[in-house]
Amino acid sequence: MKDIYILGIESSCDETSCSIVLNGTKEIATTISSQIDIHKEYGGVVPEIASREHVKNITIIIEECLEKAKMDIKDIDAIAITYGPGLIGSLLIGLEAAKTLSFIYNKPLVPVHHIAGHIYANSLEKEMQFPLLALVVSGGHTELVLMSDHYSFEKLGGTLDDAIGECYDKVARVIGLEYPGGPKIDKLASIGNPTYKLPVPLNDDSYNFSFSGLKSAVINLNHKLEQRGEEINKADLAKSFQTVAISSLINKTKKAIQNYNIKNLIVAGGVAASKGLRDEIFKLGEELNVDVTIPQMKYCTDNAAMIAAAGYYAYKLGRIADLKLNSKSSDKLS
Ligand code: KG4
Ligand code: ZN
Repeated sequence: MKDIYILGIESSCDETSCSIVLNGTKEIATTISSQIDIHKEYGGVVPEIASREHVKNITIIIEECLEKAKMDIKDIDAIAITYGPGLIGSLLIGLEAAKTLSFIYNKPLVPVHHIAGHIYANSLEKEMQFPLLALVVSGGHTELVLMSDHYSFEKLGGTLDDAIGECYDKVARVIGLEYPGGPKIDKLASIGNPTYKLPVPLNDDSYNFSFSGLKSAVINLNHKLEQRGEEINKADLAKSFQTVAISSLINKTKKAIQNYNIKNLIVAGGVAASKGLRDEIFKLGEELNVDVTIPQMKYCTDNAAMIAAAGYYAYKLGRIADLKLNSKSSDKLS
């Protein structure tokens, strides 16, 4: 079988990244420029600033990736690009770069949904086995996705309001932690105790999630303690929050594994970097005798290696776009 080299580009939020991946499984080189330090000042991503930073970085990131891989663009079989969902201005910068390369060097253009990218970050770890269940947990998504084969996505359920990552970031902000707060809450939780009583999110028979009630409960609790002049124990609050948030994810994931005879459970998206969640997922895998795959930390948050990995499977299925391809700020996973 001929080796296939995919060059992936990701620019949907505040990371500009390029990567070359061999046969959807082996990372050859990745370059990434993160804007976290710039957006930190504002407590979240500022779309206009993000777009300008992508413009500054995109060509450098692509050139450096090819250099790092010691490859020429002529050695690349196809260009994979995150077309959506994400910040429209940011997406367009990556898309225009990808289209330009595709046009000049006559390379197929492969559109990749950002969440498909997060899911396929797992194929950089281990071959996927089907039926597979993906627990998607990022700044913008919280979903359970059933896959009976490559690129076949059936959404079993999702959040009715806030995404889990968004909730982590909000809780962090309420207790004075810098953006992005998810990793800081996760770290604090590891030294805290679940002493604060918080409501358990949407404990029903569906595969849906709801985190806005939990988020409001944390805000109200913090407010009440402040008014009383009582000091909040940040580590205990982080642990209390993380315990109920993760138990909601685990309960629904468990039910889906049992109902769909799942062989492989994978976790996808930035919150997959949470040590608290990783530990519970591995425990669940052992309990139900299901193979668990979680990406390495560097592939959990936004990166282009995952886009190139997904791009390989899309390319093999002939999912090629022409130069009319446009970015979409929101789009169903397909
Ligand atoms: O997938 P991602 O990089 O961007 C989106 O596509 O949304 O996810 C970012 C989210 C942020 O909300 C961030 O706080 C969260 O992932 N995150 C974490 C951890 N690392 C990143 N949440 C909990 N624990 C972590 N270690
Ligand atoms: Zn993401």
